[in-house]
Amino acid sequence: MGLLTNLNGVISETAMVSALDRGFLYGDSVYEVTRTFQGKLFGLQEHLARLHQSADYLYMDVPWSDDQIRTEIERTLQQAPWQESYVRIVVSRGTEAAISLQPSTDLKPSLLIVISEISPTPTLSETGLHLCIGTRRRNDPQALSPGAKTGNYLNNILALLEARQQGADDALLLNMKGQITEATTSNFWLIKDGIIYTTPVEVGILKGITRQFLLQIMAKHDIPCQERVLQPADLEGAEEAFLSSSVRLIMPINQIDQQQLPQCPGKMTRFLWTEFIQLMARESQAILA
Ligand SMILES: Cc1ncc(COP(=O)(O)O)c(C=O)c1O
Repeated sequence: MGLLTNLNGVISETAMVSALDRGFLYGDSVYEVTRTFQGKLFGLQEHLARLHQSADYLYMDVPWSDDQIRTEIERTLQQAPWQESYVRIVVSRGTEAAISLQPSTDLKPSLLIVISEISPTPTLSETGLHLCIGTRRRNDPQALSPGAKTGNYLNNILALLEARQQGADDALLLNMKGQITEATTSNFWLIKDGIIYTTPVEVGILKGITRQFLLQIMAKHDIPCQERVLQPADLEGAEEAFLSSSVRLIMPINQIDQQQLPQCPGKMTRFLWTEFIQLMARESQAILA
């Protein structure tokens, strides 16, 4: 699988950052992950808007315009011999002259773009994921908001490691109140009695861009859908469940702890998948037009 990097405008196969880069030292950075569909960037505007929100949360400056960032991504994509790409955009607060927790006042942020090859045809998994609810809790929003996509992903990394140790594919994280939040890199959806539920932003989740597109699709088709606080007990009797994220789109869930989901992927999950692919295709045609 191919990979290309663009660090402050320099395109290469492996960018090197300084050992004194704050992103490297402290996770003092923000990032976004998006993808191309039919060779065109999907949802970049929404991702850049969230990048700015995350940077504001960290009191961090992003000294590039959205057009400049788009141009750098497209310049990098043009060098790729493959068709579809994963696209990661990272802004680090910058490189220190000496180790210091307090950011220097004259720091220059760095812009890193990493693109890598992904499958040219996204496919809906027919097997689904096994999730487990571990003991690791999602970061409390008052400590480090899950709503900001920062380079500090240790909460998610530890939850994923622990889920894998238990033989599951991913973790379904609870917050400090025992409410369901999200998986380690995706938002959570549940279908019960024909209603689609997803967890509200207030419980402490990343407000996913795929989640927003899915809510729009559901509204367009008058599909009953609610953003609702969910407890583990609410999983009982669920017909279908799935995760959503920008790169993997929609991932059906086959099992949560000991509970098997009766349909995986279920009818609604399949419908949303088809609609989402069509939405991406329309966007990519609109860019071409
Ligand atoms: C913790 C977390 N939740 C949800 C998501 C899904 O967000 P999006 O749909 O914007 O990719 C991600 C994506 O990386 C994530 O890391």
